[in-house]
Amino acid sequence: MLHPRPRPYFAVATMLAVLTLPGVSGAMDADTAQALARQNNCFKCHSVDKKKDGPAYKEVAAKYKGKPEAPDRLVKHLTTGEKAKFPDGHEEEHKVIKAKDAAEVKNLVDWILAQ
Ligand code: HEC
Repeated sequence: MLHPRPRPYFAVATMLAVLTLPGVSGAMDADTAQALARQNNCFKCHSVDKKKDGPAYKEVAAKYKGKPEAPDRLVKHLTTGEKAKFPDGHEEEHKVIKAKDAAEVKNLVDWILAQ
């Protein structure tokens, strides 16, 4: 067949994915992102451009530049308490973020990746 008909269910699935992934369609809000990071004490171990116990957010953004899986990867990092390696070599579970919804976490991840 030269001209296969477009598959309508594919368009619907794409639309649903956009609607159910908050933050995908909306623009990132830097103030809200930083407020959430402050509330969660993220800046105790991270800064935008200096390495502390955790990597600088600029470093994180550079590491994930051009990687389409980055947002999902970082949302998982912030919500599941993965093992985090500290500069002194010890490991502990990374802080699990407290946020009112998934959109708020995604917004912070987008902000980090934009540094
Ligand atoms: C007690 C210190 C501490 C706190 C608090 C903390 N982090 Fe981290 N974070 C770390 C360390 C250490 C790593 C490095 C983990 C590794 O490389 O194994 C890390 C890694 C990361 C990474 C990079 C993950 C990757 O895949 O490269 C991001 C993004 C991040 N933290 C964001 C946050 C945010 C957002 C908060 C606040 C909700 C936060 N961190 C709170 C210590 C902390």
